[in-house]
Amino acid sequence: MMNKKQPIGIFDSGFGGLTVFKALRKLMPGENIIYFGDTARVPYGTKSADSVIEFSEQISSYLISKKIKILVVACNTSSALALEKLRKNIKVPVIGVISPSVNAVCANVQNKKILILATTSTVNSRAYSKQLNKKNKKLLIYEKACPLFVPIIEEGCAGKTFAKQIVKEYLLPLKKNKFDAMILGCTHYPMLKKVIKEVMGKKVTIINSSAQAAKEVYKKLFDLNMLNKSKKGFEQFIVSDDPKKFMALAGKLLNIEIKKLEIKRF
Ligand code: DGL
Repeated sequence: MMNKKQPIGIFDSGFGGLTVFKALRKLMPGENIIYFGDTARVPYGTKSADSVIEFSEQISSYLISKKIKILVVACNTSSALALEKLRKNIKVPVIGVISPSVNAVCANVQNKKILILATTSTVNSRAYSKQLNKKNKKLLIYEKACPLFVPIIEEGCAGKTFAKQIVKEYLLPLKKNKFDAMILGCTHYPMLKKVIKEVMGKKVTIINSSAQAAKEVYKKLFDLNMLNKSKKGFEQFIVSDDPKKFMALAGKLLNIEIKKLEIKRF
């Protein structure tokens, strides 16, 4: 039997999923959350589907062994390539980060031209285009891989001048297309949101896959009557390598002091 106090398990290749963690924490302060960052193998976005599936399965089994009540795949690349497999083999509900943003785009009829920013593997999978067109055949969708964004963020350089230069390099040529909405289809990218907005202008609506996913988790737990309404839940962070770097960057992003970090290697 499941109980409400069991933790939410969440994973990403590195720091990116912390944007989902942050959104979850804001919506659900009472939940216990275990976060796994696969810092030994980041980035996933340039790896083959077979590798991403293998990594995602290993981490999910590990989190299941921690008795989680729901699994959040806080990585678009894993969601694009491994979600179906995970759902088949895992007994707890599994929430990915792609369909919540797809639903958010389709909920607004004003959205006709959509830009997806994502990793190379997510773009190559066409997961966003397929899911969006399944809901609305008339949408015009352009997917753009931005492979340098993840290393910039993992190095803690999102605020540097060269970060803006790289964002411009990828996005300025696309500005003339006048997109209605843009999905940040990688959970790392919200950390560059300010710069992306500056480059693309105010008219394009930015949909953040991390915030949308957190709402979906809330809804799922609510529907299952599994929300933990305690005052303050615990959080546990686990990484596969380089705990010091993770502690410093994650602490800064979440505005908390991470005192304890476990290491789990596969
Ligand atoms: N944050 C992940 C995503 O949403 C993975 C980025 C990466 O490791 O390349 O796609």
